[in-house]
Amino acid sequence: MRVDIRPDTTIAEALTLLTRTLGEAGIEAPSRDARFLLQGILGLDGADVLARSDRPVGEDAGRLSEAVRRRVSHEPISRILGRRAFYGRDFIVTPDVLDPRPDTEAAVELALDLIEARGLSDEALSIADIGTGSGILIVTLLAELPNARGIATDISKAALDVARRNAEAIGVADRVEFVATTGLDGCTRPFDLVISNPPYISTGEIGGLERSVRDFDPLEALDGGADGLSVYREIAQNIVELQRSSVLLVFEVGATQADDVVKIFSNSGAHFLKARRDLGGHTRAVALEIHL
Ligand SMILES: C[S@@+](CC[C@H](N)C(=O)[O-])C[C@H]1O[C@@H](n2cnc3c(N)ncnc32)[C@H](O)[C@@H]1O
Repeated sequence: MRVDIRPDTTIAEALTLLTRTLGEAGIEAPSRDARFLLQGILGLDGADVLARSDRPVGEDAGRLSEAVRRRVSHEPISRILGRRAFYGRDFIVTPDVLDPRPDTEAAVELALDLIEARGLSDEALSIADIGTGSGILIVTLLAELPNARGIATDISKAALDVARRNAEAIGVADRVEFVATTGLDGCTRPFDLVISNPPYISTGEIGGLERSVRDFDPLEALDGGADGLSVYREIAQNIVELQRSSVLLVFEVGATQADDVVKIFSNSGAHFLKARRDLGGHTRAVALEIHL
């Protein structure tokens, strides 16, 4: 499907064309997506779009046409624009990383609530983020906790490069080390907080995911093994081998996985502290503690 946006097409005309093309292609919320793409590519906010509606799109015409072509193939908007807002900050997103989800903010909130409730917000905490992807978890936590330091691991070197760029852009790169490894393999020192949003879709469910996920998120960011829980088990094993002192554990979980994940870590000596729901009402993050 083609859309003919020329340099002399006005912003208002472009918005109409984008909306119509996305609607005809069966995109669920065509006018919302058209606005996001237009604003993102022209670098305008909603008020600017209204105020400048009769101005031509100029040299951005080609980028707008290309963006529509990609969205019609169900590519997520954040991938087309190359960035995504998370917990109030802007993150670089590339095809090498999971497109960060708003639901993942539940894990950040849970971790920060526990740290604050214990009066630890200004302490020199040591944090590990396993499966860091774009780095949203570790970068956000270090930005919120000015004296904390961290390690972020991933099996994907390409993802670690994106996370490093985000750490630099957000100004926390001097407090984080990026390590290409599985789980916490090779890490030798214990942590005060371990956080992770690991892959948790069962292998058999991946083929049935919606196109915007199945065709665009990296497989290693989705596939959690036969029952979706294999990386949680790996992390539990790592923690048992590594920790010599108390540790807080915070995990994002799939919509029906909270009990299973709590059980995996309880079997490794952790006790359940708290859970947090996402906007859809599902338990999305769980917190536990190993007290030594
Ligand atoms: C669901 S994504 C989460 C990315 C990011 N933390 C977020 O919340 O957007 C999971 C990430 O874990 C990585 N991964 C998968 N298996 C892993 C393992 N065994 N050890 C470390 N990282 C792993 C993937 O490459 C991917 O970047």
